[in-house]
This record gives sequence, structure tokens and C-alpha cells, in this order.
Amino acid sequence: MRPLRAGVVGAGIFGVNHLNAFRQLSYTGAAELAAVAEIDEERARWVEQNYQVPVFRNYEQLLALPDIDIVTVATPDFAHREIVVAAAQSGKHILCEKPLATTVEDCQAMVESARKAKVLLQVDFHKRFDPEHIAIMQRISSGEFGEILYGSVTMEDRIEVPVDWFPHWAHLSSPGWFLAVHFVDLVRWMIRSDGKSVYAHGRREVLKNSYNIDTWDSLSAVVEFQNGAVFTFNVSWILPRTFEAIVNQDLRIVGAKGAWEIDTQFRGSRSCHQDEGMRTPNNNFISEARDKQGRTIYKGYGIEAIEDIVWNVRALQQGASLEELAGTYPSGEDGLEATRIVSAIHESAETHRVIEISR
Ligand SMILES: NC(=O)c1ccc[n+]([C@@H]2O[C@H](COP(=O)([O-])OP(=O)(O)OC[C@H]3O[C@@H](n4cnc5c(N)ncnc54)[C@H](O)[C@@H]3O)[C@@H](O)[C@H]2O)c1
Repeated sequence: MRPLRAGVVGAGIFGVNHLNAFRQLSYTGAAELAAVAEIDEERARWVEQNYQVPVFRNYEQLLALPDIDIVTVATPDFAHREIVVAAAQSGKHILCEKPLATTVEDCQAMVESARKAKVLLQVDFHKRFDPEHIAIMQRISSGEFGEILYGSVTMEDRIEVPVDWFPHWAHLSSPGWFLAVHFVDLVRWMIRSDGKSVYAHGRREVLKNSYNIDTWDSLSAVVEFQNGAVFTFNVSWILPRTFEAIVNQDLRIVGAKGAWEIDTQFRGSRSCHQDEGMRTPNNNFISEARDKQGRTIYKGYGIEAIEDIVWNVRALQQGASLEELAGTYPSGEDGLEATRIVSAIHESAETHRVIEISR
């Protein structure tokens, strides 16, 4: 079987992980990075120089290539719909960065276009690939923890994420879209239930007043799921630059027969360096290594979640149907359900009302 040919649209800060994932899959013959689309001229030239692939300035040129099997989308949060719909219409299988989109309507259009074209639409919800989370999910699924009653999630980024990484589009995102959506999907996956109602509050002080970025600093939400479980989500992206990690995150789940809690940031690894101060690196996410030939490769659940689409498309080529694969990967439908909940979080924080999630 020839390697699957992947095209990446959007080669910014996170898109680089897509480039690296497909480049290293070429070392095994499973897939290869065939083309990239990037609208920023300087960035496009950087990719050309460092990855030796054709880089189009317009994603439609990439989609027009007949021999591309997989398209991945790593453009800003609000800029996924048009590309995903066009990729589906040109018959490519798709991996889209989280959030699938920032409106329910956009997600519905994306899911519908993939359904019509009979292509696979996957969302990069990498928290499902963290072995710590897989262990929890398996024991919840086996019923060991009994009925899940409640739980809590924290996810916080240092302020440089909205202020330095993408100040030009942070106002079109939020800690809901950038962070909460990860754990909203994870909780849905673990407890196998969709959102029912949401009550949330938020603060808009630091980014708006000190950085002229008009979005939420923090969101605090109580989400009731259809099976009765109630989870609180506290998310923000204004932690000081001196915090020990770029992200802080933890999860706690309580069932009728037991509880489980995990600090998914501080996993026991702590450093102190004279220039950078205290650090708690999460080496399970994405870490650099060398293969037997001395080539740089990347390991961790952040990379596995991207590579996963290759194993799905391989399975389809070997005769599996989309229906048979359902439930084995974060799908477009999962992206839609997560967006329903995060949209309701924003609506509740704005209106101070309980939002019932309608379908
Ligand atoms: N899975 C994760 O853990 C994770 C982490 C960070 C970001 N993300 C997601 O990845 C996406 C990208 O985030 P980022 O931090 O890389 O942003 P970024 O701004 O660094 O990169 C986006 C890139 O897309 C390019 N672009 C925009 N529109 C384009 C178009 N129409 N065609 C081609 N290129 C286009 C931009 O020029 C830019 O280089 C976001 O949706 C974000 O939420 C996911």
C-alpha cells in the first residue's frame, strides 16, 4: 500500500505538530506530508525551507490535488468551517483542530458535508489519547465507579497564550473555545452522556482593560449532563508568566462507588533552572526524541491524536466502514456536541441565565 498523502492547512504554532506528525510517519511508510496551505507569506516560506513540500498560499490549490487522501485543518478557531466543508466536497478525509467550530450552525454544516461526501471527519481532541485519561475512562466504562455523580475540571493557560501567541485573533476565541472544549469533550467521552443544561459566570477584566483584547479572562460553568452527572469547569488564560507551566490542568470524578482525581500538569516532574525558575513539564504531551537513524521525532498523546487519522483511513482502505469506526475516534458529531455545551457556557455567562441545550 502506498503511503497516505496528507495536506495541512494552517502552519502556525500548532500546525507545526501536524507537519511533524506526517513527516515522521513518512519514515515508516504509513503516510507522508504532501503539501501545505498557509496564507502568511513569511510563514509559508519558513515551511518551504524547513519541510521541503509545496506550500500553497490558497487552500483551494491544495484541495485540487487529486492524490491527497487526508486534509488537516489548523487555522484559527473561527476559521475552520469553510476549509472543512470544501475539503469534504473534494472527497478528502479530514482532521480538524479543536474546537470543530465556534458556532453550532458551523459545526452542523461541517458534519453534514462530511456525511454527504461519505468522508471521515475527526477532531483533534487529544485529551482522549492521554494514557491517564484512558485508564479512567476504562474503569468508568466497566462500571467499577458506579454511576458518575459529579466532577470538576480546571484548565488554565499562562497569559502569553492570548497576548503573545495569537493576539490578532484571541478576541474571536475565549478560554471556553481554546481550553474548556478539550475537557468538555473528555467528560462527555468518559461518562458517555451529552450536555443538558449550563449555568456559567465569567470575568472580562485583564485582557480587555490591560491588553485591549475583548474576550473572557475566565469562565466558570456548572454543566448538567443528560445522565444526571454534574461537572464544574473552571477555565482561564490569564495565569502570570511566572507560573511553572504554560498550562495548568486537573480533573476529578466522583461516582457512587469511588472517586478519581488527577493533576494532569504536575505529573511528578519538576525542575528549577537559574534563568527560567520552577517548571513542571508535561513530557507526556509532546516530547522530542531521536529515531534509530538519528532523525528528530516527536512522541506523546499530542502527536498520537494527529497520527490517529492515518490509522482510521488505513482501516477504511482495508474494508472497514465509517459506521464500524464510529466511537473509536473523536468525530465531527463529538465536535458538534462539545460546541453545543461551550456555546451554552458563553450564552449563560452573557445572559446570567440557565441555558437548556436544545437539539
Ligand atoms: N490540540 C491542541 O492542543 C491545540 C493547541 C493549540 C492550538 N490548537 C488549535 O489549533 C488551531 C490553530 O491554532 P494556532 O495556535 O496554531 O494558531 P496560529 O495563529 O499560530 O496559526 C494559524 C495559522 O493558520 C494560518 N491561516 C489562517 N487562515 C488560513 C487559511 N485560510 N489558509 C491557510 N492558512 C491559514 C495563519 O496564517 C496561521 O499561520 C486553533 O483552532 C487552535 O485552537 C489546538
